Amino acid sequence: MEIEKRYQSLEELDRLASLGGGTERIEKQHLSGRMTARERIEMLLDKGSFTELDKFVVHRCTDFGMDKSHIPGDGIVSGYGKIDGRQVFVYAYDFTVYGGTLSATNAAKIVKVQQLALQNGAPVIALNDSGGARIQEGVGSLSGYASIFYQNTLASGVIPQLSAILGPCAGGACYSPALTDFIFMVKEQSHMFITGPEVVKAVTHEEVGKEELGGAYTHSSKSGVAHFLSLSEEETLMSLRELLSFLPSNNMEDAPVVATGDDPRREEESLQTIIPEDPNIPYDIKDIIEPVVDNHYFFEVMPHFAKNIVIGFARLGGRSVGIVANQPAYLAGVLDIDASDKAARFIRFCDCFNIPLITFEDVPGFLPGCTQEHNGIIRHGAKIVYAYAEATVPKITLITRKAYGGAYIVMSSKTTGSDVNLAYPMAEIAVMGAEGAVNILYKKRSDSERQAAMTQYKEQFSNPYRAAEQGFIDEVILPRQTRSKLIRALEMAQNKNQTHPPKKHGNMPL
Ligand code: HXC
Repeated sequence: MEIEKRYQSLEELDRLASLGGGTERIEKQHLSGRMTARERIEMLLDKGSFTELDKFVVHRCTDFGMDKSHIPGDGIVSGYGKIDGRQVFVYAYDFTVYGGTLSATNAAKIVKVQQLALQNGAPVIALNDSGGARIQEGVGSLSGYASIFYQNTLASGVIPQLSAILGPCAGGACYSPALTDFIFMVKEQSHMFITGPEVVKAVTHEEVGKEELGGAYTHSSKSGVAHFLSLSEEETLMSLRELLSFLPSNNMEDAPVVATGDDPRREEESLQTIIPEDPNIPYDIKDIIEPVVDNHYFFEVMPHFAKNIVIGFARLGGRSVGIVANQPAYLAGVLDIDASDKAARFIRFCDCFNIPLITFEDVPGFLPGCTQEHNGIIRHGAKIVYAYAEATVPKITLITRKAYGGAYIVMSSKTTGSDVNLAYPMAEIAVMGAEGAVNILYKKRSDSERQAAMTQYKEQFSNPYRAAEQGFIDEVILPRQTRSKLIRALEMAQNKNQTHPPKKHGNMPL
C-alpha cells in the first residue's frame, strides 16, 4: 500500500511538473500564438522518444520573495530523444515559468545536457523563448549564461549545435545562439536584440519597433545573424529536422548516406543552354545547381542575406555536400563583405563536419568602392580564401563562366588546395575582363587599336584553355555532364586524408 502511494505521488508530481507555470500561463502562451516548451519538443522529436531530465529541479534564490515560489523544472525542459532515429539532445526555455528566464539552477540543467551531447557525440538543439537573465538572481544568472557560452564554445566543431528562436531572446542571451552553428527564426514571433526598443530610444534617440530592430526578417536579410526564416513554429521545427538529415552527429562521423534513387550518371540537356552567349547577361545559378543535385533538391541556407552568393546543402550520389555558388543574377555575383562572411562561415562548418564542398563559380571580382574598403573588404574577403585553404574535406570547383582576378583565386582555385577543378567551355579565366585590361594596357592608343587589342584579349583569355594548359583546370566539361563529373570527382576524393601543420589554432582574419 505504501509503495502504491509512492507511485501515485510520483505520478502527481510528474503531472504538476508537466504543467510548468500552470494552465493559465499555458493559455496565455497559446493566445500569443506560441507553443509551450513541451509541445515544441514533442513536435520536434520522433514520436514518444523524449526522455526528460531534471524535471523536479527548483531554483535556490531567496531574494525578492522568490523563496515563496518554486516551480518544478524551473523554466527549462531538457533531455534527449531521437530525430529520424538518431540521438539528439534538446533544451527548451519554458516561458510559462518566470518568463523562461535563466537562473543559476536551470543554467546547470542546460550545461548538463550540453555536456552529455558533447560526451556522446550527438547534436544539441536549443529552443529559445525567454525574458533573459532572471533579474532576482543577479550575477548567479549571468554566470549561468557564461557557463552555457563556455560549453557552446567547447562543443563548436565537435557536434552540430542548432538554435531556434521562438519568442524573445534579449541581451547577452543572444550570444548562446550566436555561438551555435545555425539560427532559425519565426516571422513576427522571434526577436533578438542586445537592447530592446526602449533602450535604443533612450540611448540613440532612434524610434524603432521590435520587429524592425531584431525580428526574423531583419536578422535573415540584413544582419546575417539568422540562417533560416519560417512563417510558423511548426515550419521551423520541421526545417530543423531536415537540416540534421544532411549532417553527421559529430565531427568523427560522415553524414548519413541516403538512397535517393537518382542516377549518378544522369545527364541534364537543359544545362547546355543555361549560360547566355553574352557574358554580361545574368542567369540564375540555382538553375544549374538544382538540375545537378539528387532529385533536384537544394536545401538553401541564408537565402535572404547576401544573395550574390548562394550556400546550402544537397546530395550527390546520396552523399551530403555543401554548395557555395556565386549568383550572377544578383549584383552580377560580385564578392562583397557580406558574401565573404556568409561563404566563409559555411565553408568552415562543412569542413568541421566532413561535408565535401562543391563550388560553382561565376564571379566578376570583388566589389570596388569606399564603402567596401572602409568596412574592411580586405579582411573579410580574406576569410574565404582562409576557409577554403584550411578545409581538408574534398573540394570540387566548377567554373561556369567568369573567374577574374582575386575572386578567381579565393573561390577554391587549384593552388589554394582544391582537389578537382572543372570548367565549362564558356569559362573566362583572367586577371580581369577584356575592357578593364585594355583600358590599362592601351590607355593612350587609338580606338581602333584598342578594339583590336580587346578582340585579341578575348580570344586569348576569355576561355578556360590557358588555365587548362597549365593544369589549373583539370578538365573542361560539357554542361550536360555536370552531375556525373561532380559525382565521379567526389567518389575519387572520398577517402581523402589531408592534415595541416600542427598548431593550437590558426589566426583567421575576423
Ligand atoms: C525575471 C522576468 C524577466 C526577467 C520577464 N519576467 N523577464 N522575471 N527576470 N528578466 C517575468 C515577468 O515578470 C512575468 O512574470 C513573466 O516573466 C512574463 O513576462 P511578461 O512581461 O508578462 O511577458 P510579455 O509581456 O510577453 O513580455 C516578455 C518580455 C518582457 C518581452 C520578455 O518580460 C521583458 O522585456 N522582459 C525583460 C527582458 C530583459 O530585459 N531581460 C534582461 C536582458 S539582459 P509574471 O509573474 O508577472 O507572469 C540579459 C543579460 C544576460 O539577459 C547576460 C548574459 C551574459
